[in-house]
Amino acid sequence: MGNEGKIVIVGGVPGVGKTTVINNALEHTKAEGMKITTIIFGTVMMEIASELFNVQDRDNLRKLPENKQKLIQKEAGLRIAERSWGRMSIVDTHFTIKTKTGVYLQGIPSWVSNALKPKLLVLIETNPEDISKRRSYDDSRLRDKENIYHLKEHQEVNRTSAITICQKTGALLVIIKNKQGHADKAGENLFKYLKSL
Ligand code: AP5
Repeated sequence: MGNEGKIVIVGGVPGVGKTTVINNALEHTKAEGMKITTIIFGTVMMEIASELFNVQDRDNLRKLPENKQKLIQKEAGLRIAERSWGRMSIVDTHFTIKTKTGVYLQGIPSWVSNALKPKLLVLIETNPEDISKRRSYDDSRLRDKENIYHLKEHQEVNRTSAITICQKTGALLVIIKNKQGHADKAGENLFKYLKSL
């Protein structure tokens, strides 16, 4: 069973500004009367993780053992497919998750991509120095401190992951730069691609 709506998956390393860029794009879609639902994958994972494992903080999800993360991820993919059925939806998520042990976990493995059947993947990127700065001034979250080398590596791994998803699903891929102080421009760019679907 697959999703018959138009699913757009937006990913990028934590703190790159995915949610900010999506919110900027949604201002344009609203003005044009487009109906788009946004679903935050991490929020759906939190619902499941609090039911099954009493997890209280979204920043603790990536610290769970990898097998538990995969179990929650699979259920989240199914719930999101159900909630987005027949609608145009943006799924705010991650192409890879760096876990507590330092390994990369695929964010959209086949059990998620088969359920969601995305039409478009959007990878949000910027330079590692700016990501590091954004993480440090965002006190609302328990963000990981990663050095520039590791942030660069994570962005490279995300590109490979995104390509793999495209190969499996036939989804298109676009990379949007979220330059420092220009989240509005990145939002306009995202809007342009949403409109073209
Ligand atoms: P999630 O809730 O997605 O957390 P996150 O990774 O921290 O993502 P955020 O949404 O908080 O960061 P963001 O990149 O959207 O940045 P933001 O716009 O806030 O995920 C929670 C957890 O769920 C994950 O850690 C993982 O464990 C799990 N999860 C999710 N999907 C999964 C999956 N598929 N499989 C397995 N696990 C999964 O911006 C950050 C800051 O930067 C803000 O202060 C903002 O104002 C600022 N900013 C943004 N843009 C700019 C700009 N252009 N210039 C200057 N400042 C900017």
